[in-house]
Amino acid sequence: MTTEQTYNYKVVRQFTIMTVVWGIVGMLVGVVIAAQLAWPALNFDIAWLSFGRLRPLHTNAVIFAFGGSALFATSYYVVQRTCHTRLFAGPLAAFTFWGWQLVIVLAAISLPLGYTASKEYAELEWPIDVLIAVVWVAYAIVFFGTLMKRKIRHIYVANWFFGGFIITIAFLHIVNSAALPVSLTKSYSAYAGVQDAMIQWWYGHNAVGFFLTAGFLGIMYYFMPKQAGRPVYSYRLSVVHFWALVFTYIWAGPHHLHFTALPDWTQSLGMVFSIILLAPSWGGMINGIMTLSGAWEKLRTDPILKFLVVSISFYGMSTFEGPMMSIKTVNALSHYTDWTIGHVHSGALGWVGMISIGAMYFLIPRLFGREIYSKRLIETHFWLATIGIVLYIAAMWISGVMQGLMWRAVNPDGTLTYSFVETVQAMHPYYVIRLLGGILYLSGMLLMAYNVARTIAGARPVEAVIPAPAH
Ligand code: HEM
Ligand code: HEM
Repeated sequence: MTTEQTYNYKVVRQFTIMTVVWGIVGMLVGVVIAAQLAWPALNFDIAWLSFGRLRPLHTNAVIFAFGGSALFATSYYVVQRTCHTRLFAGPLAAFTFWGWQLVIVLAAISLPLGYTASKEYAELEWPIDVLIAVVWVAYAIVFFGTLMKRKIRHIYVANWFFGGFIITIAFLHIVNSAALPVSLTKSYSAYAGVQDAMIQWWYGHNAVGFFLTAGFLGIMYYFMPKQAGRPVYSYRLSVVHFWALVFTYIWAGPHHLHFTALPDWTQSLGMVFSIILLAPSWGGMINGIMTLSGAWEKLRTDPILKFLVVSISFYGMSTFEGPMMSIKTVNALSHYTDWTIGHVHSGALGWVGMISIGAMYFLIPRLFGREIYSKRLIETHFWLATIGIVLYIAAMWISGVMQGLMWRAVNPDGTLTYSFVETVQAMHPYYVIRLLGGILYLSGMLLMAYNVARTIAGARPVEAVIPAPAH
């Protein structure tokens, strides 16, 4: 049998394993910084252990290393399976794996050392940015090359979401990272002042919209129907979902810059598009959940399906909360507070985390030709993760709203009711609860690593045969 008759599972396997590894690393750093917020002395006065350096390490590790590896693994798997063809340009696909791992390792070294471009979610310095751009273009060639040599005429909707995500991220990354290097480790943004802020949040918001949302919707549209054994609830809705989502997201960035020097009309425009965004987001969420109709009973016994369904529910929650927070009067309270952190993690732990975990549990037995070592452990993982999220986000919602209200409280004579340090003191118990939630979520990941290691120990990699074209 020639390799052309089998799918390229090797690169999918590599990214799948690294998803679990980077998930643990990124969340461990999350737990460390959560502990530092409760007890600042935990930085031990060591510069590279300080909150300011570890926080970007956390965000880069969870978004780009954990989330990124999950997206590479699933998109490579889905595009091959739905196009009935082997991945285009195998060596280039291998390059994307090693190139992406190199980016992550360079990030893990340079961020604790304090090298940063000072743009949130785009902190890496210019030589790493160049490497990211090269890897990403290679990714686009592999993905779209595979689509072009497909044996199935129709392009399944999951591929539209993956494709939209790949193109947009290339565009966002290259524009936002434009900078003037002054040395190998230092550069200055090509933009200045409010334009810099606007470009940054056009990038930042669409990193959420395309990296943390569109790509993961690609996962939802393939893995949810597969695991439920049901077709997508409404295929027509999925196509409307795609176009409405990509059109609307790209305008919403200014909601990150309310009450700043950005022209007021731009802020209002961002707010309006954010509110409109509720519609496509909920259309997609309903489409995902309703795919289970007629198969609800499977939820009782199938822990992978539980991960997927709870994930889609959190997608619904965070895309309801987001439009609310984009309303200027609400944002006046929520901005700068832990409410934002709660919103972020209901999307990150709930939506992105749970759907990735579900997809990995789906993939591992298929890639290694083995039943999962323990279904009970998946079930335990599910509950640890769910309870962990609830503790995390409930704590942040309470502390966030409290923080916002304390900051704005004024006495009849116009002086502030609370000093800043009083608000910090009031946060303390909630920071401890958040830490507990994070520890639970991380323990779930450790169980996963054990379950995966036991499953693949001694297993022989699978070479799946591509179906012959129908005549
Ligand atoms: C064990 C799990 C996790 C813990 C304990 C944790 C903890 C934290 C902490 C303490 C912060 C800093 C909050 C602050 O500055 O006030 C943070 C920020 C952040 N985390 Fe996590 N995290 C976890 C998992 C994740 C995951 C899986 C993702 C993404 C997929 C994620 C994405 C983010 C983002 C985007 C921010 C920055 C938020 C902002 O600037 O508004 N986290 N995390
Ligand atoms: C309809 C969808 C959504 C809208 C309209 C929306 C809106 C918002 C708003 C208004 C903020 C606060 C900005 C501020 O005050 O600084 C915010 C922050 C954030 N949201 Fe969302 N959100 C949505 C969905 C999501 C989802 C699904 C995720 C994650 C998977 C997510 C991740 C984030 C992150 C990471 C931030 C923090 C950015 C930062 O300041 O560092 N959002 N979002």
